[in-house]
Amino acid sequence: MATWIDVGQLDDIPKQGARVVSTRSGNIAIFRTKQDDIFAIRDECPHKKGPLSQGIVHDKKVTCPLHNWNINLETGQAIAPDEGSTPCFKSRVIDGIISILL
Ligand code: FES
Repeated sequence: MATWIDVGQLDDIPKQGARVVSTRSGNIAIFRTKQDDIFAIRDECPHKKGPLSQGIVHDKKVTCPLHNWNINLETGQAIAPDEGSTPCFKSRVIDGIISILL
């Protein structure tokens, strides 16, 4: 059964930054956008497993640091013309605490 797991405080992640949490589902990158949206996706690019957490966040996308694929943070889908996806996880922020559904 999926449960909400606290993974840290919103203030611990800079705007347009990310942090990685190690979970039973593997390493998950928690992204914070300029508008304070939070997204959680596996820290693994669908191309060649690049660390998305080290990419550049812009709008609701991250650009992979290895070969510059753009990944939609809402869906985990690579943006055309690239193809593929990485798993997404539901996230929420309550009283400044970020949780993800695992
Ligand atoms: S590993 Fe991400 S673009 Fe190649």
